[in-house]
Amino acid sequence: MRTQIVAGNWKMNCNLDEALHLLNDLKLKDFSKSNAKVIIAPPYTNLYPIHQNLKDSSIKISSQNINENEEGAFTGEISPDMLKSVGVEYVIIGHSERRAIYGETDDLLAKKVTASLKHDFKIMFCIGEKLEQRKADKHFEVVKEQLEKGLFHVSASDMKNVVIAYEPVWAIGTGETASPEQAQEIHEYIRKVLAEKYSQDVADQTSILYGGSVKPNNAKEIFAKKDVDGGLIGGASLDAKSFAEIVMSF
Ligand code: G3P
Repeated sequence: MRTQIVAGNWKMNCNLDEALHLLNDLKLKDFSKSNAKVIIAPPYTNLYPIHQNLKDSSIKISSQNINENEEGAFTGEISPDMLKSVGVEYVIIGHSERRAIYGETDDLLAKKVTASLKHDFKIMFCIGEKLEQRKADKHFEVVKEQLEKGLFHVSASDMKNVVIAYEPVWAIGTGETASPEQAQEIHEYIRKVLAEKYSQDVADQTSILYGGSVKPNNAKEIFAKKDVDGGLIGGASLDAKSFAEIVMSF
């Protein structure tokens, strides 16, 4: 049975005061009735106080990025060990905003994957096509190439620590959510690619999340699809009520 996950990617939002208010609102929600594992990915500056506040909570902490080096002259960067020290268990790698805005290449992402697994993080590896690639019917080859170049150096045994997040770029922050059928079609394809690369067992055990304008009014239908194992939530994760409704959609 695959793990069902709802992860909130806060992106570059919430100063410390706002983060603690959001966290307190989230802690008032009862997620125990959901079948989903709940993860939040706050900005770096909020990791330590949130870690301190979540010690006896089932909510897990993720970072939104990681540096692939151990330590040293990398101004502005955050190392795996630093993230470990503030209770981070998951790492988002390859988000489309890191790829598009900060030029993170498949080669760099592959190095981040290797470093994250070396430090026993669980990874949420993001893939997804741009609008023009979808319109050109190239979305299948795009996600396959992103997996092959960024993730498929990982051993079959290490895949137990990998979650895949399919986030069509044209659906991120736009309100243009992929339909449940569109999500199922490409999630099924991703699982087929995993089976071809590794094995059917690895494919069946790998959680594949959907991300891109997931909201309380569409989460249930999307999450009900056979090959959708949850969501990576952006905007809606910044509102405790909306995020909780999405978590309870399982
Ligand atoms: O990582 C999740 C994010 O890219 C989705 O954003 O605002 O469309 O839910 P949003």
